[in-house]
Amino acid sequence: DRARLLTRVDELVRLVPDYPKPGVLFRDITPLLADGPAFAGVVDAIAQAAPEGVDLVAGMEARGFLLASPVAVALGAGVLPVRKAGKLPGPTAVEHYELEYGHASVEIHPFTVPDGARVLVIDDVLATGGTAAATVALLEQCGAHVVGLSFLVELEGLAGRDRLGDHPIDVLVRIP
Ligand code: PRP
Repeated sequence: DRARLLTRVDELVRLVPDYPKPGVLFRDITPLLADGPAFAGVVDAIAQAAPEGVDLVAGMEARGFLLASPVAVALGAGVLPVRKAGKLPGPTAVEHYELEYGHASVEIHPFTVPDGARVLVIDDVLATGGTAAATVALLEQCGAHVVGLSFLVELEGLAGRDRLGDHPIDVLVRIP
């Protein structure tokens, strides 16, 4: 059941202090990915919470890919890789966004997104929300309809959710 799954996720997400830089507490999901029953449980929980009629599941590079792909298969939807700068051969649609230090961008192949496609956005962690907000903007720029976002972990203290408008957001584990 859900309570047991959440306990397992809690046990299997490894906390790494001062990674990738001092003061950051990194959430390492590799032990969770390596546990067959727990990974299947997570994929199932995300798929269960998904809205009706999803055409495409968008996953953000790189850890978002690992969740978006099995959820897409479970929903009978396609998968849309949301890539970091310069990884797709083009033509691409691009959205730039600000990081704490510097800037980044996300890209997709717009010709894989039918007009009005119903897209579910999935990533492992919602932190500042910069990546997710840029992804939503990118998809909407391409004529997609973002029907929801789903995250394994939400770091509530960073208020990323405030940048996602009123799109439905599903989260498995909330960390204050
Ligand atoms: C992490 C995470 C999200 C993003 C969340 O990815 O997987 O994509 O950061 O942060 P934000 O809400 O502040 O934008 P990362 O850039 O570490 O890439 P990776 O998955 O390739 O390791």
